Amino acid sequence: MTSTQDEVRVIEAGAAPTRFARGWHCLGLSEPFRDGTPHSVEAFGTKLVVFADSEGKLNILDAYCRHMGGDLSQGTVKGDSVACPFHDWRWGGKGKCTSIPYARRVPPLARTRAWTTLEQDGMLFVWHDPEGRAPGEEDMYIPRIEGALSDEWSDWVWYTTEVDTNCREIVDNIVDMAHFFYVHYSFPVFFKNVFEGQVASQFMRGQAREDMRPHASNTPKMLGSRSDASYFGPSFMIDDLVYQYEGYDVESVLINCHYPVSPDKFVLMYGIIVKKSEQFQGDAAEKMANAFGTFIAKGFEQDVEIWKNKTRIENPLLCEEDGPVYQLRRWYDQFYVDRADVTPEMVDRFEHEMDTTKAVAAWQKEVEINLEKARENAAAGV
Ligand code: FES
Ligand SMILES: [Fe+2]
Repeated sequence: MTSTQDEVRVIEAGAAPTRFARGWHCLGLSEPFRDGTPHSVEAFGTKLVVFADSEGKLNILDAYCRHMGGDLSQGTVKGDSVACPFHDWRWGGKGKCTSIPYARRVPPLARTRAWTTLEQDGMLFVWHDPEGRAPGEEDMYIPRIEGALSDEWSDWVWYTTEVDTNCREIVDNIVDMAHFFYVHYSFPVFFKNVFEGQVASQFMRGQAREDMRPHASNTPKMLGSRSDASYFGPSFMIDDLVYQYEGYDVESVLINCHYPVSPDKFVLMYGIIVKKSEQFQGDAAEKMANAFGTFIAKGFEQDVEIWKNKTRIENPLLCEEDGPVYQLRRWYDQFYVDRADVTPEMVDRFEHEMDTTKAVAAWQKEVEINLEKARENAAAGV
């Protein structure tokens, strides 16, 4: 080996964990599950069935029938049970076989796995725990969202998309200040992370990018944004997101959540509600939420494009202006080990405020260059 080869940084791609995170995972808005049919959800390396009983309570069971392996999500809801399409065995929401119409008796131990569910603020959550325990006091709960289901706010605008990579990629975004400029065309001027217990937060202040989103005359001018975003557990982020316009603010809540399908695939979802205000009443607020939704969707597509082509990397080579990637990953690891193996470094409070001086100066310059180019192009009629 030559010495140059020795000096080259080698990527350790590692392998995605085969285990899935412990915690609450949002499966989406709850209402669409209540249409009287069983729904199939591929998650955690298996298949689940979600169905509503006669009272409208949502239940989640393993989709594969314990009789001969039929897929309950292809069956029908009969009363309070889901009926298998193969031989009509009926399974109740608690996992017990409630009836086998053609049999003299139900085998007394006929029971399948029922998953713990939570319905809150218009969303359905499922509890996943490789240790097989119900959520306890030491586990993260999902905080209430004040504006959800409130008349003062718009309805949820919800998006779902599938991404073919391990879900750690999206969690890495919490600390990744620079990608907001290069991938999302925003302009962070303040960036801080705090990790503590099962919560990982990102506080970001941004200014508008005139070069990427030129201000159209007779529309309100966007000045910047304020985003206070936290993951509560491994997969559910609530972002209090304020867009500042000349003369007024638009308050919104953005949910950024996901659940793993397999080690190399996850379902990414985002939901938005917008607070009604003097400027945005009724329909105008719904429209604003939809417009934000389209905007946020673009942002996620930009991330997805990167993830599609990048490699997994266990040993990122960082500069000072990169956030605390390694500390964040230690925080994230707590959800992939048994509770007894959670170490203080995974949960102790950690704070990091970025010195953005150099980044802001460099980005300001880049914006000016882009604006200059745009002016030249306009003058040349390009
Ligand atoms: S496999 Fe489900 S009833 Fe037979
Ligand atoms: Fe991103």
